[in-house]
Amino acid sequence: MKILAIETSCDETSAAIVKDGREVLSNVVASQIEFHKKYGGVVPEIAARKHTEVINAVIQEAVEQAFLPKCSARSKKKLRRPPAVLFKKIDAVAVTYGPGLVGALLVGICAAKAIAYTLKVPLIGINHLEGHIYASNLGRDWSIQTRFPFICLIVSGGHTMIVEVKGHGKYIILGRTRDDAAGEAFDKVARLLKLGYPGGPIIDKLAQKGNPDAIRFTRPMLEDGYDFSFSGIKTAVVNYAAKMNNKIPRGRIPDIAASFQEAVVDVLVEKTIRAAREKKIKTVVLAGGVAANSRLRQKMLARAANAGITTIIPSLALCTDNAAMIGAAAYYHAKKKNFAKLDLAAAANLKLA
Ligand code: KG4
Ligand code: ZN
Repeated sequence: MKILAIETSCDETSAAIVKDGREVLSNVVASQIEFHKKYGGVVPEIAARKHTEVINAVIQEAVEQAFLPKCSARSKKKLRRPPAVLFKKIDAVAVTYGPGLVGALLVGICAAKAIAYTLKVPLIGINHLEGHIYASNLGRDWSIQTRFPFICLIVSGGHTMIVEVKGHGKYIILGRTRDDAAGEAFDKVARLLKLGYPGGPIIDKLAQKGNPDAIRFTRPMLEDGYDFSFSGIKTAVVNYAAKMNNKIPRGRIPDIAASFQEAVVDVLVEKTIRAAREKKIKTVVLAGGVAANSRLRQKMLARAANAGITTIIPSLALCTDNAAMIGAAAYYHAKKKNFAKLDLAAAANLKLA
């Protein structure tokens, strides 16, 4: 089954064609980061407008990348106009309908409905967080159900949670952040240090030149349940900067970045491994933009291996927002004929469980 998946929940316009939930035939991601950078974060109104500008081209590109290469040069030429012929290869259309920015979500939903209606194929509404979980199903020679039950650490710009995944659609949220999401903390600390946006990848890179033990930032609630609190670590960095009258020598920045990152990673790894141990679960899956963090990947792999736990981490491109992960999750909904109607609405605060 070939699913056209669309993702526009935040600042990436993405479309993908995914076969049978596992094989990525195309995954086109148009990032809007350049337009939001000067504001230090995503501006919802700009995000929605930019999605409308590029959504059609992104979808067409995904369809062409998936279906044109298999044609001969002659038929390619013939097929290019009209590319509508290529759309006939699509069996279903999936779209993120929440959580996310309502205006941004609506652009993807409208496009998905129009295509599903025109092609007379089913429409599937997908929870963005479920998409992040299913990113680990892509490009593997096994399918995710062989890994149930597992503990999934979802760490993104908007969410941080530890989820026990018992089966398709069977999620138990063990813990979540009580304040900032992990990615949000990275972005805010980067803004404080005037490093740019988004902060996660910038801090990750700078930290590689710094000493993670240089400054001992607090690790809130480390021993305490599965909930997180990251605003305390962020405040510790604010206080550290204030002690220097906010005049931090440039040479000190890599140490601050590495020490801050280490504090966040320690809490994420500690709680995830403890959840797996206490639930007697032998597999941990990482998901979301912060799962691209090199120190988190390294430390989780090492700590889990020590505890006899297997760690599954998506490739870097599949950690941050993309439509292929939506297509992966959608396949299992399609198998259960869990289809949406054409009145599918955006759900900005959609819950996972
Ligand atoms: O999953 P995602 O692309 O979008 C949301 O659903 O939020 O995650 C974006 C977040 C941003 O906060 C970004 O700073 C963070 O993921 N991020 C990283 C890295 N790459 C992206 N955080 C730490 N290290 C990274 N390498
Ligand atoms: Zn995301």
